[in-house]
Amino acid sequence: MALRQIVKEGDSILRKKCRPVTSFDNKLWTLLDDMNETLNEARGLGLAAPQVGILKRIVVIHMNDEVLEMINPEIIETRGEQECMEGCLSIPGEWGILNRPEYVKVRYHDRNGDLYEVEGEGLFASCASHETDHLEGILYKDKVIRMVDPSELEESEEDSE
Ligand code: CO
Repeated sequence: MALRQIVKEGDSILRKKCRPVTSFDNKLWTLLDDMNETLNEARGLGLAAPQVGILKRIVVIHMNDEVLEMINPEIIETRGEQECMEGCLSIPGEWGILNRPEYVKVRYHDRNGDLYEVEGEGLFASCASHETDHLEGILYKDKVIRMVDPSELEESEEDSE
């Protein structure tokens, strides 16, 4: 496994639409292992492949001590709305308030190519929305209602996606 460099805002790769994964092979598994290691090191919640310079539809989410690897993820159902505060590993040190669905259901392939669905509310819903947006070249700042002044964060420590 190896750490990958996280691409920062301003790099055009973050603005490109990602291609579906068609081969569930060793090369994919190495990329997933590296993305998991990179996300661990960055202490983030989620990471999308374009954030490590790979234009493929791959997302990893680390939440509640679980590692969720989603290949070709598709949000197939949403409900409600929540206001959340988000950051992004590609936009370090900044936070913004935006609206996301309160609930999402995601269909995805695992690393072996098997099809699954996962659903969740709250933080999972915002994180899954944030990461799948990355695959379309969308950053949370495109949807932000307002950016958060760092002084508002003094008491809280937030995770980055
Ligand atoms: Co992000």
